Amino acid sequence: MGTKKRCLISREAIAQRVAELAQQIGRDYAGRDLVMIGVLKGVFIFMADLVRALPFAVEVDFVRLCSYGAGTTTSGEVHITKDVELPLKDRDVLIVEDIVDTGLTLAFLKQHLAGHRPRSLKICCFIDKKERREVEVPLDYVGFPVEQGFLVGYGLDCGEQSRTLPEIFVIEPE
Ligand code: PRP
Repeated sequence: MGTKKRCLISREAIAQRVAELAQQIGRDYAGRDLVMIGVLKGVFIFMADLVRALPFAVEVDFVRLCSYGAGTTTSGEVHITKDVELPLKDRDVLIVEDIVDTGLTLAFLKQHLAGHRPRSLKICCFIDKKERREVEVPLDYVGFPVEQGFLVGYGLDCGEQSRTLPEIFVIEPE
């Protein structure tokens, strides 16, 4: 049986929600020393849109994490393959993610970044996908909550395919 892609979140809905998030973050961090840290690779499109919609300029940095996932190990081991480079001590840090699934990546990253002693540490996630959550991580800004489904587009991939599509699609059996 084949699969087909169904559009779940349109470009217009994405643009509208990104603008709202940027307004909210702009209000909350006005006059502060904000550093945004994106989790590669999936976040590259959302983060590019978000930072350009903010009412002020921010510093950006990136991390890349490799997860062996809950399916292969009970601990859901996460490794850093590219760490932050900017100093974070006493600064306001906002982690930016494309999607939270089991929560293992963000739980690990939040603990890791807390070790840098930032002034504040919050999370902005575009898609909060709830069906496989194993670790509860507080999400301070959420684009869209989604109950379930395999999502691609707007940075999200399936075996490196479909990342650059401008909408979010759900993959369904035909
Ligand atoms: C995805 C996503 C998150 C992580 C979430 O990245 O971008 O970083 O998985 O999963 P979790 O909540 O179960 O930990 P992925 O490992 O697919 O890498 P990519 O962003 O490079 O595609």
